[in-house]
Amino acid sequence: MESLKGRDLLGLADLSGKEVRQLLDLAAALKAGKVSLRCPKVLGLLFRKASTRTRVSFSVAMYQLGGQVIDLNTNLTQVSRGEPTIDTARVLDRYLDILAIRTYGQEELETFANYAKIPVINALTDLEHPCQILADLLTVQEAFGKLDGITLTYLGDGNNVANSLLLGCALVGMNIRIATPSDYQPDGEIVEQAKKIAGDRTEVLLTADPERGVKGAHVLYTDVWASMGQEELAESRIPIFQPYQINEPLLRLADPEAIVLHCLPAHRDEEITDEVIEGTQSRVWDQAENRLHAQKALLASLLGAE
Ligand code: CP
Ligand code: NVA
Repeated sequence: MESLKGRDLLGLADLSGKEVRQLLDLAAALKAGKVSLRCPKVLGLLFRKASTRTRVSFSVAMYQLGGQVIDLNTNLTQVSRGEPTIDTARVLDRYLDILAIRTYGQEELETFANYAKIPVINALTDLEHPCQILADLLTVQEAFGKLDGITLTYLGDGNNVANSLLLGCALVGMNIRIATPSDYQPDGEIVEQAKKIAGDRTEVLLTADPERGVKGAHVLYTDVWASMGQEELAESRIPIFQPYQINEPLLRLADPEAIVLHCLPAHRDEEITDEVIEGTQSRVWDQAENRLHAQKALLASLLGAE
């Protein structure tokens, strides 16, 4: 745990595979009540986009560690009046112990990290959503008792969640397949990074064919077809993404024991049918709960809790 103290988490590849596994083991131990950690520090939440799970799970995690949370809603701070990021970062650094940021560009997050000495956490950018993937991997580990050799297929838009899944799966030795329309592939640099991390150990497959992607997979995963900031594109994307919907016929092509994940919020009967998200193979509520345990482990590790 000591090794993560003081570090930033701007993208999933800021962690090694070993560190991801250590975090997951700590999260599992915290969830099972086998470990109890105290960390009476102050977390700031600076969010430029809406959030239910990330905001609440970070807050509850910090309270359960004995710490406090300050909601730095950008409309209530000088951030919305255009105070330079480099100034806000240096000031918040003097008050807070740790800062989680949800914003658009990865550059803003990097600027915060460069100008604040405290740990900065990516709570979602257009490029990555690493905290989500820590919870997802914990959910997979719980379902299968292992991560090695498990095949996860992500269907839909090659967005922030897809990018972080590529890195997360490669880091822990899972096979990752991304099935998207050809114009909606994940970030090219991240794909290359994931392939490098995976080496010849595991599969990193990009395909436009949803059936090829799903065949025999152990985990099917999807997310909205238009992310925050792209709302005006949502309607026009529906016909393009329809073949990538997780529905019963597609699910039947996966491994019979396959589980279904969605980071939520979901648009039922768009990227996933109501029947599948409410069905017996869905693990989305465990997955949402695991945001709390994974982020508690992350906060405790970055803050060096004992
Ligand atoms: N999955 C996720 O990050 O949810 P929120 O947008 O509600 O935080
Ligand atoms: N890709 C989605 C994830 C929401 C948790 C978005 O960025 O809006």
